[in-house]
Amino acid sequence: MKKVYIETMGCQMNKSDSERMFGMLIQSGYEQTENPKDADLVMVNTCSIRQLSEDKAFSQIGVWGQWKKTLKPDLKIGFCGCVAQQKMKEVFRRAPYVDFVLGTHKIYSLPGIIKQVENGERVLVCEETNATEDDKAAKYEIKRVKSVNAWIPITEGCNNFCTYCIVPYTRGRERSRTPEIIIKEAQDALKDGFKEITLLGQNVDSYGKDFKDRNYRLADLLRELNKLEGSFRIRFVTSYPTDITDELIDTVVELDKVCEYFHIPMQSGSSEVLKKMNRRYDRETYKKIVEKVRTKVPDVTITSDFIAGFPGETEEQFEETLSAIDEFELDYSNTAAYSPREKTVAAKWTDKFIDEDTKTERLARLNDKVRENCLKSNQKYIGRTVEVLIENFENHKGKNVITGRTRNNKIVHIPGDTDRTGEFLNAKITGAKTWYLQGELA
Ligand code: SAH
Ligand code: SF4
Ligand code: F3S
Repeated sequence: MKKVYIETMGCQMNKSDSERMFGMLIQSGYEQTENPKDADLVMVNTCSIRQLSEDKAFSQIGVWGQWKKTLKPDLKIGFCGCVAQQKMKEVFRRAPYVDFVLGTHKIYSLPGIIKQVENGERVLVCEETNATEDDKAAKYEIKRVKSVNAWIPITEGCNNFCTYCIVPYTRGRERSRTPEIIIKEAQDALKDGFKEITLLGQNVDSYGKDFKDRNYRLADLLRELNKLEGSFRIRFVTSYPTDITDELIDTVVELDKVCEYFHIPMQSGSSEVLKKMNRRYDRETYKKIVEKVRTKVPDVTITSDFIAGFPGETEEQFEETLSAIDEFELDYSNTAAYSPREKTVAAKWTDKFIDEDTKTERLARLNDKVRENCLKSNQKYIGRTVEVLIENFENHKGKNVITGRTRNNKIVHIPGDTDRTGEFLNAKITGAKTWYLQGELA
């Protein structure tokens, strides 16, 4: 049997695509290997959100190209994902050892591409399509990563065109998948023993806006998924701040399986910077949204994303980001230094670029602030008893621990010598670290 190795470099959506590609390849007669050196086919599923991630993709195929030249002339190499979509022709031209380039739009063409490649052809499939892929998706199994959580994309693409972001160019316009296929995928995952469903989208909360034949939004989907039988949790990421409706918040409160967790990227604490980023809200509006979610949803965790050193960002504006994290009590945030991306609007503002040293310094201060607030947020749980869905059994600093997450997405470490993965256990929280809570079985 031929073996395939996929290196997955991007976000959850990218990981979910890899699971779908594995599924198709298995149906095409391949088996999965964890070791690229054993593989007959190696693929990289790339991310282009920042320059660094793009560079990583090119250096990875460089290494494989070298193997092919010196050790394994029959090795087949595939270049997939967001960098493929963005730089398709360039990759095809620049890297003659790459056998196929497959963008984000037609991943369901993979079985056909593999046949062509096995016949010695070089293939480039990157054209955009507005055709729905739902029917094709139903034809293929998904080979999910072994875990308690199953990722299910509900929307693809993005219409927002934030001035820094490449995603609308690599993923195309927003398309919602039909509830029928999402529910079917959720049922399959639950049948396979998964205990958590995470609905994915660049803007999950705009789910359904593009349906012409029905009025059906994220809240409706959550209600239907909540009715499925069994003990499991439902999450959804990422929420665009101004697309969070009152109905969605009420649904989260009302439905027992939907977890008290919102990921609501703010990107900057400064209203002027937000405007230049083409975000559709200012600091006040974001504040109102977060306050509303906090007031209505008991014990909710709210996390965010921030960019340091956006073109033209002044020291004062950067400090508004730091103060936003404090003022809105954001529990955790992903952070990044601004990275100019080809085709995006902000990348043209070269005269406003912040120098690397300042960006690095701001990012470090931002990370300090995130750590400080994360610890503060964790300390609130000391003494409380919480439900933990166990995800792992591991040796942490010389001790056996079972680790899992609370409904509101806090990681908990519990001493324990038996593997309880997949169980819902109650734990009493005895301590708080920056990145996790310590607990005992209650
Ligand atoms: N759809 C989500 C974000 C998707 S991209 C949203 O709108 O919030 C994930 C994160 O990458 C973004 O939230 C942003 O913080 C970061 N990011 C995107 N483009 C970037 C760039 N050019 N430089 C640095 N960080 C970037
Ligand atoms: Fe990128 Fe903005 Fe779309 Fe998020 S909403 S994916 S940051 S363009
Ligand atoms: Fe995800 Fe990176 Fe593409 S964040 S959508 S894999 S650019």
